[in-house]
Amino acid sequence: MVIKINSLTPELFLVLYSSNGWEPPCIEQVRTALEHTLATFTAYDGELPVGMVRLIGDGGMSFYLKDFAVIPNYQSKGAGTLLMNAVESFIMNVIAPGWAVTLELISTKSAVRFYLGKGFEERPCEWDGPGMFKMIRKEG
Ligand SMILES: CC(C)(COP(=O)(O)OP(=O)(O)OC[C@H]1O[C@@H](n2cnc3c(N)ncnc32)[C@H](O)[C@@H]1OP(=O)(O)O)[C@@H](O)C(=O)NCCC(=O)NCCS
Repeated sequence: MVIKINSLTPELFLVLYSSNGWEPPCIEQVRTALEHTLATFTAYDGELPVGMVRLIGDGGMSFYLKDFAVIPNYQSKGAGTLLMNAVESFIMNVIAPGWAVTLELISTKSAVRFYLGKGFEERPCEWDGPGMFKMIRKEG
């Protein structure tokens, strides 16, 4: 398996996103999101795309993982680990020595153990409250 950086198209995003049963946004919304994404990471088994993750963030203090998805047939075969390693290498390449930055996400219930295994901490904890989330919708 190999990881390609910034090769994710809106069309492929929709395929990988939908593969786990998630209801996808429209392609125009995906295209806009990809244009403003810091980096995309796509896992390939030969010619077959099997997983993806998007990294958004400010490049200096905060990074955020979105849309981490491996197609069902390829889960638990190491693609997620390769994608996460590629994300962390990317971050290490863009930040300066001495900087500490955050990498954040909201996990699905089923992926909590995966992220714990990658060194993420859960919130709330002794000193922090829960992560917060709000959908903003424009009717039309
Ligand atoms: C979560 C996900 C991205 C992980 O990718 P993956 O390719 O399946 O993960 P890997 O094969 O690299 O697994 C790495 C380790 O995590 C464990 N793991 C993977 N998925 C797990 C899960 N859902 N629950 C518990 N452990 C999991 C594996 O057993 C493996 O452990 P090991 O290193 O001790 O063998 C993938 O399973 C997936 O797409 N799940 C469905 C969509 C989803 O929930 N995405 C998360 C969005 S926040």
